[in-house]
Amino acid sequence: MKSILEIRTDFPILSRTIHNKPLIYFDNGATSQTPTQVIEAIVHYYSYQNANIHRGVHTLSQEATDAYEEARKKLQRHFNARKSSEILFTAGTTHGINLVANGYSALMQERDEVIISASEHHSNIVPWQLACQRSGATLKVIPMNEKGILDLEVYNQLLNKRTKIVCVQHVSNALGNIHPIEEIIEKAHRVGAVVLVDGAQAAPHLQPDMQTLDVDFYAVSAHKMYGPTGIGALYGKEELLLQLPPYQGGGEMIKEVHFEESTYADLPYKFEAGTPNICGGIAFGTTIDYIQQLGMEAIATHEHKLLEYAIAKLQNIEGITLYGNDDLSKRTAVISFNLQNIHPYDVGVILDQFGIAVRTGHHCAQPIMDFYCIPGTVRASFAVYNTFEEIDTFVEAVKKAQKMLS
Ligand code: ALA
Repeated sequence: MKSILEIRTDFPILSRTIHNKPLIYFDNGATSQTPTQVIEAIVHYYSYQNANIHRGVHTLSQEATDAYEEARKKLQRHFNARKSSEILFTAGTTHGINLVANGYSALMQERDEVIISASEHHSNIVPWQLACQRSGATLKVIPMNEKGILDLEVYNQLLNKRTKIVCVQHVSNALGNIHPIEEIIEKAHRVGAVVLVDGAQAAPHLQPDMQTLDVDFYAVSAHKMYGPTGIGALYGKEELLLQLPPYQGGGEMIKEVHFEESTYADLPYKFEAGTPNICGGIAFGTTIDYIQQLGMEAIATHEHKLLEYAIAKLQNIEGITLYGNDDLSKRTAVISFNLQNIHPYDVGVILDQFGIAVRTGHHCAQPIMDFYCIPGTVRASFAVYNTFEEIDTFVEAVKKAQKMLS
C-alpha cells in the first residue's frame, strides 16, 4: 500500500485549515473525503463524456453507457455478485432499503413479520414501519445489551415461519460494532426468511462478499467509501429481484407502455426509472478502483491500529464513557463517547475550534440513545488517511474541552 502520507496527498481537502488549524477530519462515518482520482473522473465525465445513457445511437451516448455499465461490473466484481444485473444503482443506502421495503409492503400480508435490530439507523427502521403499516405485518426488534451487542438468543425466539424478512445493519454507525450477520443470515434462511443488510458502514472497512455471506439484499453508499454523494448500490439475488415489484415507474424501467398495461424491463433496469446519476455511477466505479489499489485489508489494518491507539488514550480521561463493544476485534474505527455532565454538542463545537470535525447527536439512531438514556454522543470515525498524530491532537483537544466545559 502507499504510505499514509502519500495517501493524504490524494485528498486535496486534507490540506485545508479550519479556524487556522489543520483540518482533522474524523467524521468519516457521515461521509468520507474524495480523492483526486475520483474528482478527476467526475470532471472528465462532464468535460468529455456527458450524454444520456441507454437511449442514443450517437457515440457520446454509447460511450457514457459503456462507462456506466463498466462501473456496474466493477461493483459486481468487488462485492462478488453472481451477475452484474444483481447490482442496482441507487441514490444511496436509504434509497436501496426503501426500494426493498416498498416491494415487501406489496408482497407481505397481515400475520407476516419483519425483524429489525435495536441498533439500526433510522433508514433501516422507518421504511419497515411504513411497510408494516401498509401491509398489516408486525415489526419485531432484536434487543441489544449495554455494549450494543445483539441478543441472538432472543433473535432465535423471534424467528418463525411468519418471518418474511430480517433487516439488520452489518456495522453500527453509532457504535462501530460489527454484527454477526453470517449467523443472522443462516438462521433466517432456516425458517425461510430473506435478509437485507444495511452495509453503509461496513463497505468502507470490510469487503463483504455477497456469495459467501449468502445475503439476499445488501445496500451501500459510495460517499462513505471515498466516492461522491447521491450514488449507491443495492445488491439483490436475481430470483428475489424478479419477484419484487418495481419501486418507481418511468422511462428506462419499461419494456412496453400501453394505457391498458405496461410491462417492465429486465434486471437491473426494472428498478432504475428515469435518467440515473450517470456521473455518480461512473465515479463510484473509479472509487472501487481506488480502494482496490489501496487494498481493503491494508485499509482495515491501518484503521484498526488507529482505533486501538485512540481507545487506549481516551480511556485514561476521567469522566469519559465509551460506548460499544470492548472487544475491539468486533469493531470498525468508530468511537462514540460522552464526558460526564457535558452535552455532546458542546464538545463538538469546541473540537471544531481546534479544526477537528466529529459528529455529535443521535447519529440517526435515536433508539440507541433512548436505550442509554442520553441525548447523543460525540462520535469520531476514522478513515485510511487519518494519522496517529491527529489522534494525539484530538485527545488533547478533548481534555481541553472537558476543562473548559466543567
Ligand atoms: N448515517 C450517517 C452517519 O452515521 C449520516 O453519520
